[in-house]
Amino acid sequence: MDFELTPEQQQIQLQARQFAEQEVAPLSREADEKGIFPLPLIKRMGELGFLAGPVRQEYGGAGMDYVSYALLCEELGRVDSSVRGFLTVHASLVSLCIQDWGTEEQKHYYLPRLATGEWIGCYALTEPNAGSDAASLETTAREEGEEYVLNGEKIWITNGTSAHLAIVFASMDRSLRHKGICAFLVATDTPGFLREPMPGKELGHSASEHVHITLKECRVPKSALLGAAGDGFKVAMSALDRGRLGVAAGAVGIAQACLDACVAYTKQRRQFNQRLADFQMVQAELANMAADLEASRLLVYRAAWAKDRGLPTTQATSIAKLFATEAAMKAASQAVLLHGNRGYSNEYPVERYYRDIKGLQIYEGTSHIQRIIIARELVGRDR
Ligand code: CAA
Repeated sequence: MDFELTPEQQQIQLQARQFAEQEVAPLSREADEKGIFPLPLIKRMGELGFLAGPVRQEYGGAGMDYVSYALLCEELGRVDSSVRGFLTVHASLVSLCIQDWGTEEQKHYYLPRLATGEWIGCYALTEPNAGSDAASLETTAREEGEEYVLNGEKIWITNGTSAHLAIVFASMDRSLRHKGICAFLVATDTPGFLREPMPGKELGHSASEHVHITLKECRVPKSALLGAAGDGFKVAMSALDRGRLGVAAGAVGIAQACLDACVAYTKQRRQFNQRLADFQMVQAELANMAADLEASRLLVYRAAWAKDRGLPTTQATSIAKLFATEAAMKAASQAVLLHGNRGYSNEYPVERYYRDIKGLQIYEGTSHIQRIIIARELVGRDR
């Protein structure tokens, strides 16, 4: 077992940290307040090779390994979950999904455009009546001559406002349940592809774009099918196996940011004639945060390491997502508390971490869903 990062991994970690601290951090508070995604960062991430990190070089990617990709997501997550969330949807759920399931023609057409940020990708699985139970989706696809015609609704689609390309999941035959589902590559300017922002104000990820999509007789060519007909559910699940790794790494970043903020604040803040950091009760909280953080980090790196070796990673990824997001939730809650009333205002960033982390426990499969996946691998299914 080797716990040391390779020189290449250390280089990506450093580059990602510098980008996050120097180019993302100065924009984060305003983006969060205004609820607007800092779009110029997308091109920059393309230039730096981040947008298509693990995509192979022949398709315009940087060809980085999954450990490097986890380091990248961790560094972005430490500073801004909306930016990290953009990347995991664009790269893990869209580009890598096309790399795994696409034809050579699809890969050569879409991946270089997604790698530079010329095109932005979104992943349209969730529906009003199909959230955790994704196989029950109601969007339909019917064959008509040389086309498929899509009808239905999708909600909470991240990157949806700016996206040029959506991977849309729809059923050719709902009586077949998951075996009837197909994945389609849909250009968002296709007639019948309509989008509007989700109603209401969100708790966190305020800068992220979340849209409601209506597909109304939306016609796509036969060549838009991604994977074979009926493979759509597996396309969706395998994409989420990768997406959840990025989310888990983002949670490690949030927990690290909380710990850093608490160490700095409790060393400087004095009450009862001593530093907060000198109270044993405070030290116990800092120690718990540090222990949980290191455990989360090791779980994430282990899942990434296993992906790099082509090992099965569904369970390892769900364990990493479950543990890391729950640990970061505790860390963020404690961080707000240790900062007292300052932690409750956006004078300090911990309140944003606290609002954002709740989203990581929900999207790409809630903590309950991760427990179902982990338990099924332990006990199988009786049906
Ligand atoms: N990889 C490949 N195939 C998989 C798989 C995986 N990780 N998981 C399951 N499958 C396959 C199974 O092997 C099975 O195949 P066969 O029919 O050949 O046996 C098939 O898929 C059906 O599997 P299940 O019976 O396990 O399916 P299920 O209906 O019981 O659901 C579930 C399983 C894990 C609960 C799944 O529904 C799930 O992950 N739900 C959560 C959905 C989710 O995460 N949504 C988030 C959407 S994206 C988002 O949040 C934000 C955004 O903007 C992107």
